[in-house]
This record gives sequence, C-alpha cells and structure tokens, in this order.
Amino acid sequence: MRHGHRAAVGLLILCGAGGCHGPQSVFSAGGADAIELNRLFAVMLVGAVILWLSLNGLFFHVTRRRTGRMSRKLAEAVIIGGGILLPVVVLTALLAWGLSIMPDQRAPGEGLRVRITGEEWWWRVEYLPDGAAGPVISANELRLPAGRRTEIELRAGRVIHSFWVPGLGGKTDMIPGRTTRMSLEPVTPGTYRGQCAEFCGASHALMALNAVVLDEGDFARWLEAEAAPARPEEGEGRAIFFREGCGACHTIRGTPAAGAVGPDLTHFGGRTSLAAGILPMERAALVSWIANAGAIKPEAQMPAFAHLSKTDLDRLAGWLESLE
Ligand code: CUA
Repeated sequence: MRHGHRAAVGLLILCGAGGCHGPQSVFSAGGADAIELNRLFAVMLVGAVILWLSLNGLFFHVTRRRTGRMSRKLAEAVIIGGGILLPVVVLTALLAWGLSIMPDQRAPGEGLRVRITGEEWWWRVEYLPDGAAGPVISANELRLPAGRRTEIELRAGRVIHSFWVPGLGGKTDMIPGRTTRMSLEPVTPGTYRGQCAEFCGASHALMALNAVVLDEGDFARWLEAEAAPARPEEGEGRAIFFREGCGACHTIRGTPAAGAVGPDLTHFGGRTSLAAGILPMERAALVSWIANAGAIKPEAQMPAFAHLSKTDLDRLAGWLESLE
C-alpha cells in the first residue's frame, strides 16, 4: 500500500511538472482522434473508480460485522450485487460506449491520402492528393493539413512495424504484404513526434518521425513545393555525391540520382530532423551520420563513408542541406 501511495504521488508530481506532456504524449492531444482517446481513457478511469469504490465499500461493510452475524439477505446482496450485478452493469456500459466510438477512428478521409511504408529503419512517405497523376514521394517526416481528415495507408517492407503519433491518434500495425488503414484529423497546427510501436529489429527504438501539422493553405503550398524537382547547387558537394555512388540508393528528383533503396532526398534540407527523427537537422549531425550511419543506427543499410576527408564530408553535407 505504501509503495502504491508513493507511485501515485510520484505520478502526480511528474504530471504536475509537465512530465506527462510534450510532443510525444497522448495527453498533449492535437488531433480529433487523440482527443477522443483521451476521453475514452477518462471515462474508463471513472468507470473503474466507481467499481473499485463500490466493491471495496461492500467488502468493508461486510468485514466489519462480527462472524456469523450476517443475515442471509445481506449475504445474497453482497454476492449478487457486488459480485455479478455491479461489474456487469458498469463493464457493459463501458464496453458499449467504447465500441460505439471505434468507427470514428477509421472514418474515410476527405481527399488526401498518404501512403506510409515502414522500412528498416525509416519511413517512406507518399502523398496522393485527390486527382493527382502520381504520388509525391518524401521520407521520414509526415506533414498533414489541420481541420481535415486524411486517409493513411500503411505498408511494410520486410518486417512488421507499427505507426503511432500519440498526439494525433492511435497506433496501427504495418504488415509486410498487406495494406492496413487508419485516418487522422489533426486540429492544432504544430509538431508532433511519432515512434515505431512494434519491435522490428536492432534499431526499432531509433525509428521515429516528426508529424508537422500545418494550416490548410500552408499545407497546400508546402505540397506544391514538395512535388517540384530539387534545384541543386553545382559544386564540389554534388560531385562527391555522384562520385561516391549515393544516387544508387537515393533519389533526388531533377538530378540523375534515382535509387529507391533509401529515403528520397529531393527536399532533404527542408525536413525538421535527420535519420528518421533521431538527430537534429544540423551540419555536425549530418557529417557523423554520413561518415558512419551504422554507429548511430545499428544495422542500418547505409554504408559508412569514413574514407572521405573531413572537408569532403562537410562539402557533401552542405550540398545536401541546400536541397530545400
Ligand atoms: Cu519499425 Cu519498430
């Protein structure tokens, strides 16, 4: 009981200090689905408290009587009421309400579809706006318009993953050979953090992404820019990229680089994070990532480029950053 007390007090202090909030918290809900899930949690908690209080009340009432003094009627009331009736009524009500809100979480989208594929250990992100000829391909960041429901199509490369942005909605598994669906309706613009929620290998914990929610107008402008080819600078950085064969794995639209093994880098410099949400989009981080990706993300397929000189790494990183 003492330990229980301490844990409860600790949790209260933690939440009071803001420990239950942040970009990756279900309690910092910025989407209609996350708000609904918070309500579900609150209602379930109230139901559990009602049940706990009434059953313990009965238990207390009964045990305070002297042995052998309980009437048959009271015994029946305790067994039937406390053991069967109360739990059945409370749990049935909770189940019915819980089931009734489930279809909302899978409601169809309103125009835009986004296809996200779980790779090892990064996210392939394809935007399919209404009436578009082909997908707008991006990676490792999800941008969504606020105030509109977007359909999310989930796939997986070689192993199972699970897509979860706690601030926006629930989680859904990504299964190789299958397409699973969910939909999200963000309401508050901002940056939310997502995390792979199914163990998928050595770098499972290092498979995150930022979900950036924009106003409808900002989103439309962003998507238009994202659909356009890159406008890469000439220079040494570009020469290193092609000399080292980076284009065999990465695509940069508007250049001969057309590989599909790794993330699309067309507008790489415009993203908010690096290496699937685990590093800041900064020069030093990018240099160490290129030099030895496997040291930062175990078993990542990107080879090390440690043979490049510091100057060359810096030039290559600078060129990649210019791809906005
Ligand atoms: Cu992908 Cu865990």
